[in-house]
Amino acid sequence: VREGVGSAHAKAILLGEHSAVFGAPAIVLPVHELTARARLTIPDPAGEPDGSTLRCALYDGPVRSAPEGTAPVVLGWQYAAERVGLQDAGGRLSITSDIPIRRGLGSSAAVSAALVDAVADAAGRDLALDDRMQLIADAEAVAHGRASGIDAAAVLAQAPIRVERGTPTTLPLGSGQMHFVIADTGVAGMTATAVGGVQELHRTRPAYVDTLVGRLAALTDEAAAALAADDVAALGGAMDEAHSALQSLGVSSERLDHLVEAARGAGAAGAKMTGGGLGGCLIVLSATADTTDLERTLAEAGSTGTWTTSCGGQSWPR
Ligand code: MEV
Repeated sequence: VREGVGSAHAKAILLGEHSAVFGAPAIVLPVHELTARARLTIPDPAGEPDGSTLRCALYDGPVRSAPEGTAPVVLGWQYAAERVGLQDAGGRLSITSDIPIRRGLGSSAAVSAALVDAVADAAGRDLALDDRMQLIADAEAVAHGRASGIDAAAVLAQAPIRVERGTPTTLPLGSGQMHFVIADTGVAGMTATAVGGVQELHRTRPAYVDTLVGRLAALTDEAAAALAADDVAALGGAMDEAHSALQSLGVSSERLDHLVEAARGAGAAGAKMTGGGLGGCLIVLSATADTTDLERTLAEAGSTGTWTTSCGGQSWPR
């Protein structure tokens, strides 16, 4: 019996959603508090006669007859298994994830990443970072139609990264720490609808959209500079302005706006939606290391879940 394990964390876009679709860079933070885990056992101890078995909240049964909704999981497995020569090995895959789905937190990419690593581990193979990223990006592209590659890079990154046209680079960080809260609206995000809406707006009002996309790209650069300089006020200001630009693109929602206002009212340094929008999550820059009050305010304002992530300084996981 061979066993392989893998895990990957969630991600949150700090700045650059939607402008990334136009080729601009995005800044993405790993969210280590939320993880997906995969375990592969070959052969399946239950002696599954029908090839590989998948056992997770989404689906429990033979991989071969898995329904469409499980595409990222199934594709992650198939691509990785072919890559390491395990495609004919019957095995039992179990997947657990505490990353909420359809919230822009990269749950499908994280599950794919965990799977790819579990499959490689079971085969006794070390895949290069680029290969792992490509396998995840391929699964994401099929699962989500068009995907910018942000999630595939982000769920493998241990520190904040800049992603431009699918290529990640590391970001210089200051010696201080920035503390963020991710808050869930409780409503599924609708990335495809939001991206389609921006495209439609671009068709009818190209100059308007180009200006907003240009502003978002500039704000992303300002945010990168603020991270390097430990400038909380400048980063918060860039986040606030980015939220306005995203509102103008029509991709925010009443609930997102309400929670963004609540966070600012509670003294946050900055707040904006994160990810595709029309639901999903917001990302808030806390003015203090203790985020308890901010999280309580967000919960009272209707957020269904909050998580924290921080970057810079000594305690950032390397
Ligand atoms: C979604 O998480 C981010 C978008 O920019 C789409 C993408 O880049 O694939 C809205």
